[in-house]
Amino acid sequence: MTDALLVETPTTDATWWRQAAVYQIYPRSFADANGDGIGDIPGILSRVDYLADLGIDAVWLSPFYPSALADGGYDVADYRNVDPRLGTLEDFDAMVAALHTRGIKVVVDIVPNHTSDLHEWFQEALAAGRGSAARDRYIFREGRGENGEEPPTDWESVFGGPAWERVEDGQWYFHNFAVEQPDLNWDNPEVHEDFLKTLRFWSDRGVDGFRIDVAHMLTKDLTDPLPSRAELERLPQDGKHPLIDRDDVHEIYAEWRKVFNEYQPPRTAVAEAWVKTPERRARYASAEGLGQAFNFDLLIADFDATQFRTVITENLAQSKLSGSSTTWVLSNHDVTRHATRYGLPPLNGSLVKQGTEWVEAGGPEEGIDRAQGLRRAHAATLLMLGLPGSSYLYQGEELGLHEVAEIAPEQRQDPGFFRGSEYDRLGRDGCRVPLPWTADGESFGFGAGGAHLPQPAWFAAHAAEVEAADPASTLSLYRQALRLRHRLQSEEELEWIETGRPDVLRFARPNGWQIVTNFGAEPFDLGADAEGVVLSNLEITGGALPGDATAWIAPAGLVD
Ligand code: GLC
Ligand code: CA
Repeated sequence: MTDALLVETPTTDATWWRQAAVYQIYPRSFADANGDGIGDIPGILSRVDYLADLGIDAVWLSPFYPSALADGGYDVADYRNVDPRLGTLEDFDAMVAALHTRGIKVVVDIVPNHTSDLHEWFQEALAAGRGSAARDRYIFREGRGENGEEPPTDWESVFGGPAWERVEDGQWYFHNFAVEQPDLNWDNPEVHEDFLKTLRFWSDRGVDGFRIDVAHMLTKDLTDPLPSRAELERLPQDGKHPLIDRDDVHEIYAEWRKVFNEYQPPRTAVAEAWVKTPERRARYASAEGLGQAFNFDLLIADFDATQFRTVITENLAQSKLSGSSTTWVLSNHDVTRHATRYGLPPLNGSLVKQGTEWVEAGGPEEGIDRAQGLRRAHAATLLMLGLPGSSYLYQGEELGLHEVAEIAPEQRQDPGFFRGSEYDRLGRDGCRVPLPWTADGESFGFGAGGAHLPQPAWFAAHAAEVEAADPASTLSLYRQALRLRHRLQSEEELEWIETGRPDVLRFARPNGWQIVTNFGAEPFDLGADAEGVVLSNLEITGGALPGDATAWIAPAGLVD
């Protein structure tokens, strides 16, 4: 790689997020500094040089707030503090300072749909009783039946089981997720005020942006008579659905935008909104609202040229309309890692695909081709990093980690697993196993006190220290790609170049960089362009790009 390739393109302070590579940290599983088996903020601080060497532009931290961990921290007991097991606010400040010194922005997670049942508001609501102001911050209802002994509706929670829970005095409260995650009432002004306070609290501490958890579910229309579950499922999600993606949710984000714009540069936000169409998603990404929204379309797509091309074209067109930039995601803490997804056999009679998850018929290991999965993951990641827009990466994917399937039922933590969630039967623990840092030693260097989820023996070969020393490793590939990416990202445009092959995609960026991905099995002849290849996940021999591979071709004059 020549020096000319390493010059960074400048982004202004206010637009850093538009084409950023954002690395998601799941704090409890990243690095454990005090050896209690749980990753912590000092652990992140001890690894800031690793993050800087990786070449990312920002980190997004999943919740590190006080929590009983009923849902991996997404059950927040206090929005303006650090869980004592993970450190202190001073530790947080030190981590932010260390990241900022290295040019890395910090994004934190805001969970506004529900609190933990241990949050002081919910405890107050329980104590204060029916009809109280404290109960009005949540969604309490009388039950049906003679003595109110039946839930107000037959609705199911996302993690399985009923969405209503009865409290001691006989009322029921609504929880879209786990029982320990009561939904807030966003018709209550106090709820609005409190979240504005939280956004200012973290912005004042230097946080650059926010990731908004289930941003599409906050507002609800629960006027009686409430529909049945079957009716609810039939209702269109057109902005008027009682629970999902309601138009009035954007009034909240307009308030938040005002707070974001009080800061210089303005704070950013990205919505986690699993909505039906790119058009609906664009509303969350508007400049008067959160500004950006996750697009999970690539994550849901198969490793398939036609699907990738359609998703890319549609989302780029859509982001033009909203004025935002597109986001891309292949893995996060909620889904099966993409190296594993791409190694599973094609769906057949005995396998069913549910959402983004592999399914049953003999278990997740059946028929998996790990090498193929990893090759394809590399190819898809290189393609993604070459696209206009921002890319979100999930801790461990830079080490080529596969999903960990070998977790005994008694060791699992995900509430979805215990409640028999329909959307993911095995649960999400397999992508949340603590990271391997060293090939040997206690918990592969995660910490001196073991790991809170079991690490498999094959983690040794994926340890960060092992991969850092190996130029052919996944880590080395990510490092090279993330460095070069600063050169490649220019205007948010791409132009498709026809390849004459339905299984090969090729596009050019306005500054002349080209990306070619071969989704097929037959090698693809790059001709004279092979000489311009500065990065690829598989070796180019005789000018041909093998199957399951992506090549980055630099514009003429940039390579010797
Ligand atoms: C989001 C989070 C997920 C969590 C859920 C409830 O989908 O990504 O991890 O369980 O919200 O907060
Ligand atoms: Ca710890």
